[in-house]
Amino acid sequence: MADPKHSSTELSEAEIAVHWKEEEYFYPSARFISQANLVDHNVEKRFSLENFPNYYKEYADLLDWYQYWQTTLDTSNPPFWRWFVGGLLNASYNCIDRHLARNKGKAAIIFVPEPEEEPATAITYQELYVRVNETAAALREFAGLKQGDRVTIHMPMVPELPVTMLACARLGVIHSVVFGGFSGQACGDRIADSGSHVLVTMDSYYRNGKLQDHKEKADQAVAHAQTCGAKVNKVLVWRRQRGAYHSKTPMVKGRDFFMDEVLPNYFGKIVAPVQVKAEDPMFLMYTSGTTGKPKGIQHSTGGYLAYVAGTAKYILDIHPEDIYWCMADIGWITGHSYIVYGPLALGTTSVIFEGVPTYPDAGRPWRIAQRLDVNIFHTAPTAIRQLRKVGPEEPRKYNYHFKLMVTVGEPIEPDVWRWYYNEVGKKPAVIVDTWWQTENGGFLCSTKPALNPMKPGSAGPGVPGIHPVIYDEKGKELSPGSQRAGNACIRNPWPGIMQTIWGDHDRYVQTYYAKYCKNRKSKDWRDWPYFAGDGALYAADGYLRILGRVDDVINVAGHRLGTKELESAALMVPEVAEAAVVPVVDPIKGRLPEVYVALKPGVTIAHNEIQKKVVASIETTIGKIARPAHVWVAEDMPKTRSGKIMRRVLAALSNNMAVGDITTLANPDVVEHIKTMVQAHAKPAAPADAPEDIKRFGQSE
Ligand code: WTA
Repeated sequence: MADPKHSSTELSEAEIAVHWKEEEYFYPSARFISQANLVDHNVEKRFSLENFPNYYKEYADLLDWYQYWQTTLDTSNPPFWRWFVGGLLNASYNCIDRHLARNKGKAAIIFVPEPEEEPATAITYQELYVRVNETAAALREFAGLKQGDRVTIHMPMVPELPVTMLACARLGVIHSVVFGGFSGQACGDRIADSGSHVLVTMDSYYRNGKLQDHKEKADQAVAHAQTCGAKVNKVLVWRRQRGAYHSKTPMVKGRDFFMDEVLPNYFGKIVAPVQVKAEDPMFLMYTSGTTGKPKGIQHSTGGYLAYVAGTAKYILDIHPEDIYWCMADIGWITGHSYIVYGPLALGTTSVIFEGVPTYPDAGRPWRIAQRLDVNIFHTAPTAIRQLRKVGPEEPRKYNYHFKLMVTVGEPIEPDVWRWYYNEVGKKPAVIVDTWWQTENGGFLCSTKPALNPMKPGSAGPGVPGIHPVIYDEKGKELSPGSQRAGNACIRNPWPGIMQTIWGDHDRYVQTYYAKYCKNRKSKDWRDWPYFAGDGALYAADGYLRILGRVDDVINVAGHRLGTKELESAALMVPEVAEAAVVPVVDPIKGRLPEVYVALKPGVTIAHNEIQKKVVASIETTIGKIARPAHVWVAEDMPKTRSGKIMRRVLAALSNNMAVGDITTLANPDVVEHIKTMVQAHAKPAAPADAPEDIKRFGQSE
């Protein structure tokens, strides 16, 4: 019999031997290379650690500074890194004003509405300049916002979203964009945490062919924020259709205002960009972590903008004349960095698409690509899987030419990668698989598109200047080719790294640095490797293969959901005594959450009733994106003798895998009971080789 003590130490480690096939290399075409921004074979040397941090001057020099900075990196208070100290700049100036002299008539944004009969609209740099200025004037004069204030923006994929963000940046106001799909309550939590007194929203938007009511969420958000002690004074409401209001909730007098009624008062008004310090915060972006409360990731202005401009230029290969389309939502970090700030800083044309990729059919993205002559395409594995499923041959019908394609957000299966390469990219397009996180501002690992071959399923080496390292649980480095999985870390700071967690410096240090810090007193950045929270494998060629989260985060269709957030939502249902959430493999979305609940003693309620209540509670507290694949009502939870729920056992059951050693459980019988219940439902056959994140899930508990 297995020695339980031995197996539990073994299980608590991330370093599981992984057997995976080395994939073959794919090479960029000569045509791509001949036009690429980054073709210098010396780049590795220029960006080697001996030249750290000075090599990032190259990125900073992509921006215009009112006052040039003096210190590249100040490490006097690790891990609170300060980049380009002494510099003054403005992000909105860098994304708009500086392009006017030569490119005022060029499209900055092309907006593609979901209804196909509604024509796409191009917003020139001049028009963007005017709209951002008028909006900035309204935010300053009508809403009373000034530098350092926070504003929560809860909007769908419409051009008014980047207009509002850039207007904030013009004023030095810190924006906190909440993904439009989040519920009103989730938005309210973020309003309260950030201390926003102004909420910017929209009445409605198109999704899957229907005009959705969005303003109703604003009312819920404001009400919920109030219960958290936060008062919203003004709600600014953009309208999807000028002059028409499509929400069933009334406008609240004295609090809610239509932007299209406010803006005419600021007609033609120009607002001088506020010169902010490089290290002044530019925005917050909330993301999920190991505890129930989302973290407000705080990003700087100078370091962040330099980093996204640099990576957009060298990894996305953006040239000013490209038509670049990233299908992510601006409400996530990918949209901030690689729809808005990176592309606009480089003066290119960025496409914004309102709708879902498969509506009205799986040919939609390729029609858009053909019509706008998009040449750089950026999306996530979940969308690629979906498009492959519903329209595997659809791309062939359309005449578009991508030079480069991006995948981001989740590990991509080599098979899905090959479809993307062969069918969507039609072979000429280079693929970059970019691994990074909300906390990072921009890419960490990816191939350099003209310099490194691609390898399906592997993100690649660190991008220029990023020096990855894989540690085992004890802090020992795993060398490339070791065939053991470990924790992905970065040896050095970089300009795009977050500054802190808003209002919670300790949590910042604890979450990202405590695990592998070599000396808490040290002011040397070498002692402070960044812990990413992802498992990874380092191949002999120096490419990283990302295996997924090592913490309690589930990556659903590329969206990070904290299991603890879902569990607390389930626990809001009065009948529920205990709740546990585990990831289950889904062929399209990557992972989905499954919820296990045990009821309070004496409660009698039909299972389908409780299931409905749990789903409703999750949708209200988080949003529909968190809707569980299934809610299981168990008579009890499998527990250790000390009373901890064994989530790894539940994860195994949900994924039709062997539960492993359960001799340490206080109540092993419960496992049989749950197994019978789960297996009574049709489940996919056990995956031949279960993904690492599933195998590891809950093992550290
Ligand atoms: C996962 C999204 C594999 C990873 C930019 C990370 C990836 C989390 C990749 C961050 C990739 C992101 N390959 N996994 N190319 N990109 N991830 O904060 O687990 O929404 O920690 O940022 O997504 O998600 P976030």
